[in-house]
Amino acid sequence: MLLLAPSILAGDLADLGTVCDQCEQGGADFLHVDVMDGHFVPNLTFGIPVVRALKQRTKLPLDVHLMVSNPGSLLDDYLDAGADWVSVHWEVATHLDRLVERIHRAGAKAGVALNPATGTEVLSEILPSLDFVLIMSVNPGFAGQSFLPYCLEKARRMSREVAEKNLDVIVAMDGGIDERNIGEVVSAGVRFCVAGSAVFGRPDPQAAMIDLRQQAIGVVS
Ligand code: DX5
Ligand code: ZN
Repeated sequence: MLLLAPSILAGDLADLGTVCDQCEQGGADFLHVDVMDGHFVPNLTFGIPVVRALKQRTKLPLDVHLMVSNPGSLLDDYLDAGADWVSVHWEVATHLDRLVERIHRAGAKAGVALNPATGTEVLSEILPSLDFVLIMSVNPGFAGQSFLPYCLEKARRMSREVAEKNLDVIVAMDGGIDERNIGEVVSAGVRFCVAGSAVFGRPDPQAAMIDLRQQAIGVVS
């Protein structure tokens, strides 16, 4: 099964209600919400009130990707606002164990995001506590960047480790995924794909979601 999470950052930001409808009608599994703080990444996006409003507007679970340099101080507010799945970046999580525990205590699923240049080995100790690993296939900060092919090997390595240790951890990938490379992405063991421009950069986002799934068919059932 492939989980598809359109990144609303690439949607019409002046009409997020319609973006929610498009995701629901296109059969998305999640709404991927990119939270950027202007420090960890050079962009500023969705604050806590926006996440709260999205939660009221859509039935889809919210996959909140925290690209902030102080996840510890913002985490509880985003959980309270309705984040269902939350990923924090390894690069800024000094006490990762505590953050994961807080996410679980709130009843949410916990993930760790890795920048392209961060090796998968940094997660070897914490992996059994995680629900998912978000492998970035672009340097975070913006939608619409080109996919970094070297990240496929990281996905393969991560999937292998998860299988060898018999863990229940989903390998997710985020950045530059489109209908041309999604086959390779799922072949690398990724079962959760985030896609922004490949969905909302198309005239018909619903059709784009269906296309993405079609391209993955045969690789993943
Ligand atoms: C990048 C974000 C991604 C991005 C995805 O910093 O974390 O989620 O919005 O958009 P595309 O698919 O256009 O790279
Ligand atoms: Zn993201």
